Order: sequence, then C-alpha cells, then structure tokens
Amino acid sequence: MLAVIGGTGLTEMQGLEVVERHGTETPLGDASSDVLEGLLNGKKCLFLARHGHPHKLPPHRVNYRANLWRLKEAGATQILGVNAVGGIDPKLSSGTLMVPDQLIDYTSGREATYFDGRFKPLKYIDFSWPYDARLREALLAAGRAAGETLVNGGVYGCTQGPRLETAAEIARMARDGCRLVGMTGMPEAALARELGIPYACLALVVNPAAGVVEREITMAEIEAALEDGIDRVKRVIRCLNA
Ligand code: HPA
Repeated sequence: MLAVIGGTGLTEMQGLEVVERHGTETPLGDASSDVLEGLLNGKKCLFLARHGHPHKLPPHRVNYRANLWRLKEAGATQILGVNAVGGIDPKLSSGTLMVPDQLIDYTSGREATYFDGRFKPLKYIDFSWPYDARLREALLAAGRAAGETLVNGGVYGCTQGPRLETAAEIARMARDGCRLVGMTGMPEAALARELGIPYACLALVVNPAAGVVEREITMAEIEAALEDGIDRVKRVIRCLNA
C-alpha cells in the first residue's frame, strides 16, 4: 500500500475517502498526526501530515522515527515524501516539480536511526541510491499522465532549519552539487531504508534559495507558490500507479 507523507502545504489529501484512522502512538513516541487510511481514485492509500494537522511541528522537531514506524505498522509498502523546497539551480524556478535522485544530509542532532542500541541486530544499510528507482519511475509516469512536467533527477540538500540558509551556505551547497534545498528530506529517507520500505520524493520549488536572486526570501512568496503548486502535486499523486 502506498503511503504519502504530506509536507508544508499538504496537510490534507483531498479526494481520499477515509475508511480508517490509525492513532499516533508508537514505541518511539507519537507520530506527527493520525495516519489516514482510505481510497484514492479507488486505490488503498495511507496519508500522514509530516508537520501535524494543523501544521505545528518545525522540521527539526518532527519525530521521523515514529512517523515511519507508524506507517509501516499501518501497512505501508511504499512511501512518497512530498517536500516544499528552495531552488539552488537557477533553472528551477518557483512552481517547478522535481523528483530528486540523490541527497546530501546537512542536518545535525536529529534522531536519525532505529539502530541506536535499542534495535538489534545492528544493520548498516546501503544508501548509495537513497531513492527507490521503481517508485521514481512510477512518479515520473504519473507526471506524464497528469500532464505535468517533472524534472528528473538532482541532488536534494537537507538543512537543519528552521531558519533559511545564508547565501554562502547555498553557494557551498551548489558547489557540492545540490540543486534543491529543504529541511525534511532527512532522516526520513534513511529511516524508510532501515525499515526496508521503498521511498521516493516529490519536491515542489517554492522559492529561489538564498542568494540565487538578489533579494530577500519572503514567507508571502513561499505561501503563494505553495498555494499555486500544491494542487498540481495532488494531481500527480492521484495519477500515481505504484
Ligand atoms: N531552504 C530550506 N528549506 C526550504 C526552502 C529554502 O529556501 N524553501 C522551502 N523549504
């Protein structure tokens, strides 16, 4: 069963006919929100609001371990993370939809593994290709079916937040090869891998990253881009045959 983790701007999945609501408790604390199980275009699907519903948790306070645990318990066999991001590559203007194929983790101090001594035996997961190739392909096909252009591939850089980055930090990330910057892609992707669940990301660019254009980034522009773009994200998800 496909699970969708909705990010900023996607706290509700319109069109999901809810048949069951799974509570938040896990052995690792509370998930951000109830997991909704329902039918989306006739197909069973799970939905979780990453920041809670209503949006209350900043990226560094999200209990990623509980979220992924709860989704697995509810029957998730594939997970799509939806993320609002800043565009580092100047070609990725606001409104661009992108399916990254790599990531770099710049976060610190997050609970980033299930293997911290409590879960045995310890597994060193392979994470060479953090996103699942099949699910990425399905997502790109969903984009075509929805009539949306999805940029295929690129490195997602995950920062700690909640502040946005400095222009120098973004310049460094660009030198590292990052095309996108967000705050919630990690440890989500790694935890999914630890649980053995295929995971992919659908990113919506909501602003040019710091210093990419010569002006400040405003919350108003981010909100406007989210409002414009999130219906297109939902359309792609409704076409996803995973
Ligand atoms: N930086 C980090 N995370 C973000 C941004 C950004 O510019 N925009 C949306 N999420």
